[in-house]
Amino acid sequence: MSWAYSASRRQGEESVRTVCAALDAGVSLLDTADMYGPFTNELLVGRVLKERRADAFVSTKVGLLVGEQHVVADGRPAYVRRACDASLRRLQTDVIDLYQLHREDPEVPVEETWGAMAELVAAGKVRALGLCAVGARADRRPGAGLYDATLRRLSRVQQVFPVSSVQAELSVWSPEALAGLLPWCEARQVGFLAAMPLGHGFLTGTLTPGQGFEPDDLRARHPRFTAEMMAANQPVVAGLRRVAERHGVTPAQAALAWVLAQGAHVVPVPGAKRARWAVENAAAAGLRLTPADLAEIAALPPAQGSWE
Ligand SMILES: NC(=O)c1ccc[n+]([C@@H]2O[C@H](COP(=O)([O-])OP(=O)(O)OC[C@H]3O[C@@H](n4cnc5c(N)ncnc54)[C@H](OP(=O)(O)O)[C@@H]3O)[C@@H](O)[C@H]2O)c1
Repeated sequence: MSWAYSASRRQGEESVRTVCAALDAGVSLLDTADMYGPFTNELLVGRVLKERRADAFVSTKVGLLVGEQHVVADGRPAYVRRACDASLRRLQTDVIDLYQLHREDPEVPVEETWGAMAELVAAGKVRALGLCAVGARADRRPGAGLYDATLRRLSRVQQVFPVSSVQAELSVWSPEALAGLLPWCEARQVGFLAAMPLGHGFLTGTLTPGQGFEPDDLRARHPRFTAEMMAANQPVVAGLRRVAERHGVTPAQAALAWVLAQGAHVVPVPGAKRARWAVENAAAAGLRLTPADLAEIAALPPAQGSWE
C-alpha cells in the first residue's frame, strides 16, 4: 500500500477499507514497518487500530531508514528505543505484538541491537521479537547457502533473548527457505512469516508479460519482471492454475495454500491494495491442498531469472 508498488496509486481511504475488509474476513496479523512510506503505512494501520485494536495482532519492524539515495540500516540501541516510541505513536497503540529487526546494521553487533529490543519487551512496549531475513541474498558469500548468515545471526541473538518469529521470502517460485530456515524455526517452535508469498503478484496469474509497470513500482526494474522472464516463467503460473481449477479457486489462493501447507508454524503475509483481493486471499486459509497437488507443484520447473 505504501511502499514498492506505484506510489501514484496510493489511496489512503481505500487502503483503510482494505485493512478493515481483511479483518472482517478473519485476517488477524497486520505486518507493517516504519520504513514503509516511510512512516505512512504505520499511520494507516494506526487509523485502523484506533478503532479495532482487539481484532489485530500487529507486527512492525525497526532498523531500516529511508535515506536520500538508499535505504540504510541503523541498529544502534538509542535509535531502536526512539524508533519504537515513534512506531507506538503512529500505530496508536501502547504495545506492539511483534517487533522485528528489519536488517542487521553492519556497524553494530546484532546482539546489541537485539538487547535493546529485548529491553522494550521488559518495558512492556513490545510483546515478542522477530528477525527478518528478506534481502539475505545481499549477505551471501560465494559458496555459502542463501540463509547461512541468517542462521548464524539467529543463533547469536537467541542467546540474548528468544526469537519468536523469522520473516523471509517464501513462495512457489522462491522456495529457498524450505531448506535450512524453515526446519530451524520448526525445531524451536518459532513462527515463520512468509513474505512476498504471491511473488510480487506474478503467481496470481493476473499479470501479462510485457505489460509494463509504473516507474516507481519495484517490478519496473526487477529481473524476474522483464517481458522475457515473465514469459519464461508462465509454466509456473499455468501449474498453479491447473491445481486451482481442480479446487474451484484462483491461482493466488492456490499459491497461498501452498505456503500454508509448509507447516503449522508458517504464516503467509500477502500484500494487497484492494479489498477484493484481501478477502480472496483470506479465503485461501480454508483451502487444503492434497498430497497430489503438492507433488504437482513441486514438479513445476524452477523459476528462471535472478531475484535481485
Ligand atoms: N521483511 C522484509 O524485508 C519484507 C520485504 C518484502 C515484503 N515483506 C512483507 O511481505 C508482504 C507481502 O509482500 P509484497 O506485497 O511485496 O508481495 P506479494 O504479497 O507476493 O504480492 C503483492 C502483489 O500481489 C497483488 N495481489 C495480491 N493479492 C492478489 C490477488 N488475490 N489477485 C491478484 N493480485 C493480487 C498485489 O496487487 P495490488 O497491490 O494491486 O493489490 C501486489 O501487486 C509485505 O506487505 C510485507 O509485509 C517484508
